[in-house]
Amino acid sequence: MAKITLGMWTSHGPTLSTTPQEWLMRVKADQNRPSHPFRLKNYSFDELRDLRRSEDLAEQASLDQRTIRHGRCMTAISKMADIWNDVKPDVAIIMGNDQKEIFNDEMIPAFTVFSGDTLYNEPASAEQISMMAPGIHEAEDGHNPSEYTEYPGQPELGRLIIEQATKEGFDVAQMTKLPKHEKHWSSGVGHAFGYIYRQVMRDKVVPNVPIIANTFFPPNQPTAKRCFEFGRMVGRAIKGWDSDLTVAIIGSGGMSHFVIDEDLDNLFMKALESRNADVLTNLDEGYFQTGTSELKNWISAAGVMFETSLQGEMIDYVPCYRSEAGTGTANGFVCWR
Ligand SMILES: [Fe+2]
Repeated sequence: MAKITLGMWTSHGPTLSTTPQEWLMRVKADQNRPSHPFRLKNYSFDELRDLRRSEDLAEQASLDQRTIRHGRCMTAISKMADIWNDVKPDVAIIMGNDQKEIFNDEMIPAFTVFSGDTLYNEPASAEQISMMAPGIHEAEDGHNPSEYTEYPGQPELGRLIIEQATKEGFDVAQMTKLPKHEKHWSSGVGHAFGYIYRQVMRDKVVPNVPIIANTFFPPNQPTAKRCFEFGRMVGRAIKGWDSDLTVAIIGSGGMSHFVIDEDLDNLFMKALESRNADVLTNLDEGYFQTGTSELKNWISAAGVMFETSLQGEMIDYVPCYRSEAGTGTANGFVCWR
C-alpha cells in the first residue's frame, strides 16, 4: 500500500519571486481594480485605505518592512525545500489552481486531474511577456525554468484518483496532455505547480499528479466543503493504491490576497493545526474570492492530511503588505511529516 510521508502547504505568488522593490509594480493594478473583496464586503482601493487607516499599514509596507518580510519568506521556503529533500517522497499530488494559464475563458472545469506521462514548462516568449500585466513577468523565474523542460507525471495514480472520484460521485475532468493555446499569455503547467517544482523540489521533480481546482473564476468554483470532501476521496484513492511508493501531498496557493486579512489567516492556520474541518468548511464562501480563494487548495490537501497520523509545524506566516490599503499577499508555510 502506498504511504503518505509528507504534507505541505505553501503560498506560491509573485511576492515570493520578486524583489521587495518590485512588489510595488502591482500597486497600480490594486488602485485600478474597482472592487476588492474584504471581510464579505467590497471596497475600492481608496475606501480600503480609509477603512484600515488605524492599522498602520503604510509602515508595514515600507521598504524596510518589505525587505525583512521578503527575507523571512525566503528562509521559510528554503526550509520547506530542505524538509522535502530529507523526506524524499517518491511521488507528489499537488493541489493547485489555474489562473487562465492552462485553461482560458473557453473552458474552465471545476476539478481536473492530470493523468498523463509528461508535463512541461518553459520561459515566456517575447510575445507572451508583452501580454502580461506589470509585475507578473518579473516573478517568472520563481516558477518557470530557463528553457523548455519536461517533467514526469504519475499516470497510474492519476488514473486511480479519477476512478475513485467517479465512483464517489465527483465528476472530474481528465487531462493527459497540457493544452496549447494560440496567442495565449502563458504556456506549460502554470505557477501553482511550477512554483513547487522549482522552489520546493529545487528542479528535481518527482513523478506527480497535478489536481487543478477552479478556485478563482465564478460561477463553477467548488465550495470549501466540496474541496475538503474531494481531498478525503483522494486519500482513499492513495490508500487503495497497490504500490510501495511514498507520497507527498501539497496544497499550493493562498493565504489572503490581494487584500491581506490576518484575522482570517490566523483562524485558518489554527484550524489547520487543530485539524478542525468544521471551521475550514464552514467559512462563508465570500471569504474565498480572488487570490484568497486559493486557500481551497489548502483545504483539499487538509482533506487528505487530516486522515493521516502525520503532524508538523507552521514554518512561518508572513503578511507581505505592499500598500497602505492593505493590499499584498500573506504568505504561509506549513509542513507535516
Ligand atoms: Fe496563484
